[in-house]
Amino acid sequence: MPVITFANTKGGAGKTTAVLLLATELARKGYRVTILDADPQHWISRWHEISGHVANLSVIDFVTTASLPVHISENKHNTDYFIVDLPGARNPLLATAVGLSDHVLIPIQGCAMDARGGAQVLELLQYLDEKAGIKIGHSVVLTRVNSMVTTRALQVVKSLLSERHVPVLDTAIIERSAFRDIFDCGGTLHTIDPTRVSNLDKARENATCFAEEIMRKLPLRLVASARMATAA
Ligand SMILES: Nc1ncnc2c1ncn2[C@@H]1O[C@H](COP(=O)(O)OP(=O)(O)OP(=O)(O)O)[C@@H](O)[C@H]1O
Ligand SMILES: [Mg+2]
Repeated sequence: MPVITFANTKGGAGKTTAVLLLATELARKGYRVTILDADPQHWISRWHEISGHVANLSVIDFVTTASLPVHISENKHNTDYFIVDLPGARNPLLATAVGLSDHVLIPIQGCAMDARGGAQVLELLQYLDEKAGIKIGHSVVLTRVNSMVTTRALQVVKSLLSERHVPVLDTAIIERSAFRDIFDCGGTLHTIDPTRVSNLDKARENATCFAEEIMRKLPLRLVASARMATAA
């Protein structure tokens, strides 16, 4: 049961949005997903409250440094993927979550020049590797990328990352109103009213590509019980 943490110490990088897209896509494919919500704004827990039951998906709220390892250990037999949503500030939870993770995803806004919050996470990963020999898989995911044009800011961010040999996912998360609307309406990209949202097909396709790329990085055989739960 891989643990995937979304981390960027800069607020508003798109962590929570990416967590929800990944979690709902994996759950739709039949994997049992537990989201560990450590975001002080509790967006995922609020989304879960208004959404009601979402098949294969559970959310644990008020996750702290002390409770995070306990939640993982208590739920490891009923979870295929744990996804951790961290606060957007430097916080002791960062080191704990990163240390427990199989993969750390670092969302960096493709439209912003400021990649410092992402750099802090990368520094921590490098520190763990150099000082403690702990190698944790990680990748940057570019977020809020303009669907129409490649901006200069995006090119700068991309070349900076490639100079530093930082792995970047092929799939960027595009700026889409649908990704905001699911937080307001509840449910998923597949239950939302298509007449209310523009470019829903493209948003769905983007979320699917994103989840599939992560699954290729962290493959997991679909467990029979999850498959049966989806079929039911
Ligand atoms: N791909 C996207 N398309 C459209 N809006 C987006 C996208 N990603 C994020 N947003 C919007 O940007 C804002 C910040 O995003 P989000 O809450 O996901 O970031 P965060 O990194 O979790 O922030 P924090 O650090 O405060 O927890 C939100 O209003 C969200 O709706
Ligand atoms: Mg957040």
